[in-house]
Amino acid sequence: MKKINPTIKKFYGYHLSTKSYTGKVALSTLKNASRNKVIEIGGRKYHIKGCAGQGGFAQVYKAFVNSDPNDVVALKIQKPAFPWEFYMYRQLDMRITGRERSSYGLAQRIHLYADCSILICDYLAHGTLQDVINRYAVQGKPMEEVLCIYYTIEMLHMVETLHDVGLIHGDFKPDNLLIRYARDDLTEEGFLDRSGPWCDQGLCLVDWGRGIVLDLFPDDIVFKGDCGTSGFRCIEMQEDKPWKFQVDAYGLCVVVHMMLHNCYMEIAKEESSDGGYMYLPKQRFKRTLNLLVESNSYWNVALWKNFFTKMLNQYPGNDDRRLLQELKKSFQDYISSDPKMIKTLRELLAKQRTSMCCA
Ligand SMILES: Nc1ncnc2c1ncn2[C@@H]1O[C@H](COP(=O)(O)OP(=O)(O)O)[C@@H](O)[C@H]1O
Ligand SMILES: [Mg+2]
Repeated sequence: MKKINPTIKKFYGYHLSTKSYTGKVALSTLKNASRNKVIEIGGRKYHIKGCAGQGGFAQVYKAFVNSDPNDVVALKIQKPAFPWEFYMYRQLDMRITGRERSSYGLAQRIHLYADCSILICDYLAHGTLQDVINRYAVQGKPMEEVLCIYYTIEMLHMVETLHDVGLIHGDFKPDNLLIRYARDDLTEEGFLDRSGPWCDQGLCLVDWGRGIVLDLFPDDIVFKGDCGTSGFRCIEMQEDKPWKFQVDAYGLCVVVHMMLHNCYMEIAKEESSDGGYMYLPKQRFKRTLNLLVESNSYWNVALWKNFFTKMLNQYPGNDDRRLLQELKKSFQDYISSDPKMIKTLRELLAKQRTSMCCA
C-alpha cells in the first residue's frame, strides 16, 4: 500500500477524508432490504433502491444518483476502508482500452473514511453468471453445451487480455462475473471477432479486491499463500507451492466445471502412461443422451478434455497467453464448424435474458 499511496491520490475520483462517515443515515442501518433511504456522500445524494448483492467482504447496493433513474450506480460499502480495489480499477482504465474495457467493471469514484470506504461503480442490471448457473440448477437442467462454450470463450479471452497487461484478478468466480447483453439483436456475423452487437454481449469481471499488479513486483515474482476461498484454491495452493497466473486459470476451470456439472471441481491426481502424473477433474466428462436438448445431445468430450488437461497440467509460469489463445481457438473453431450453433446460441441468450429478467 505504501508503494501506491503517492499514485492513488492523483487518480480521478479519489476522495479521502480523515474522519469517520457522518451522513444522516448511518451506513450500518442499511440492510439487505433497505429501499428508498437516501445517503449523502461527497455532496451527492444516493437514493438506495435495494441490495445488488452481498459478497464475502462487502455489501453492495443499487442506487440512483440524485434520484435520477437514468443514473444508476452500485455502491460497495466496506469496513474497514479498502482503497486497493479502486487502485485496480484505475490500472484497468490505463491498461485496457477500447472495446475490451467493458469486460471489466468501471469505478466512478471512491470515498474513503476513517472507518469505511464507499466505492461507486457502474451498475449492471442482469445479475451474475452464478445466478444463471443457479437457475439451471433449480430447473434441474444442464446448461446447454453451446452456452457453456460461449461463456468459456468469453472468459478465456478476458483472462488472456488481463494477463497480457500484467494484471491478475485473483478471485475469479461466477459471482464476480456480471452478465452483459447487447442492446441490439445478435447477428450471425461478428461472433468470432466480437464485433457489432457481440461486443456488448458477454461477461463483466468485478470485485478487484484481490487483484495483483505484476509490475509492482520483480519480473520473476511468484506468490505463496492461499486465497482461502474453498472450491477456488488452485492446485499450487492446495499443494503449498508458488503460483502466479494459475490462480485465474484455475478459477476459470472451476467456473467452466460449474456450468457443465453444476458443482465445484474436485481434482484427482492420476498416474499417466509415462510414469508421471496428471491432474484431472474427478467428475467425468459426460456423454449421456440428454433428452431435454434434442440437438447436441452428446457432449463434445474431446474439446472439454483437452481444455481441462491443458489448463490443469500444462500451465506455464510466465506467459500463458499462447495456451489461452489456443484453447479459445479450439472452442471458436468448434462453434464456427456449424452455422446452426450460432443460431442456437443467439436463441439461448435471448431466452436467458427474458427468463432472468422475470426471475
Ligand atoms: N457493478 C455492479 N452491478 C451490479 N451488481 C453488482 C455490481 N458489483 C457487485 N455486484 C453484486 O454484488 C455482489 C458482491 O459484490 P463484490 O464486489 O463481488 O463484493 P465482495 O468483495 O464482497 O465479494 C456481486 O456478487 C454482485 O452480485
Ligand atoms: Mg465478490
